[in-house]
Amino acid sequence: MSTENKHRVLEGKALTLTIMTTVLMLIGGLVELVPLMAVESNVPTLAEVKPLTPLELEGRDLYLREGCYNCHSQMIRPFRSETMRYGEYSRAGEFVYDHPFQWGSKRTGPDLARIGGKYPDAWHYRHMEDPQSTSQGSIMPPYKWLLTDQLDPSLTARKMKALRTVGVPYSDAEIADAAGLRDAQARSIADSLAQTKITVEADREIIALIAYLQRLGTDFQGGGGDGSVEAGR
Ligand code: HEC
Repeated sequence: MSTENKHRVLEGKALTLTIMTTVLMLIGGLVELVPLMAVESNVPTLAEVKPLTPLELEGRDLYLREGCYNCHSQMIRPFRSETMRYGEYSRAGEFVYDHPFQWGSKRTGPDLARIGGKYPDAWHYRHMEDPQSTSQGSIMPPYKWLLTDQLDPSLTARKMKALRTVGVPYSDAEIADAAGLRDAQARSIADSLAQTKITVEADREIIALIAYLQRLGTDFQGGGGDGSVEAGR
């Protein structure tokens, strides 16, 4: 029987073929996955990238709760059309503490990976209250309740602890003082808003969301970086 015929026979035996295919795929999977998980240096950390502060973490959870990811991606691809519009393209190492990451693929609105520092705090406040007031003709919905609803302060430390179990390096001291750190940063944002004649309590949800948005993409500023594109890898 020629090799071709043997294969024909095998193809005719559905169960045997299925089992053999599955075994082969499992071996292939292990060969790819085990080294990837076992070798520490496969996680491309960047020294500049630090975990979110307690307040920013709360803001991130609001971003998830409100489903902002349905319209906004957080990943700038390494194409000129993207880097000209959004800035330095995203590196894998920028997302090591992002669980789950917010890369997304839906861009009804612009990418937000480097929104941090693009606008003043007051802009974000006005934009969330009424997107058309800052961006003429915007189809983004308003999120007015963020301006008045109080941030749930009860879980901050526990969220940090949970993230630590998946590798986010929060220290014991940071977790112990989660509420203090959170409220201090919130007050400084409320103060900055007050200077632009926006009066808002520091414990409102909008403050946490602004903290999060202003942090996005600011740790890593590009340049040297991991150099993977420059090195042709
Ligand atoms: C229905 C789709 C949609 C949803 C949901 C949405 N956005 Fe937007 N967003 C847009 C569009 C469209 C724009 C561009 C016009 C504008 O600036 O309002 C935008 C713009 C923005 C900008 C300014 C981006 C820039 O570079 O100028 C920010 C910041 C932003 N959105 C944050 C959010 C946040 C935070 C949420 C969740 C609370 C959210 N968006 C939910 C559609 C959406």
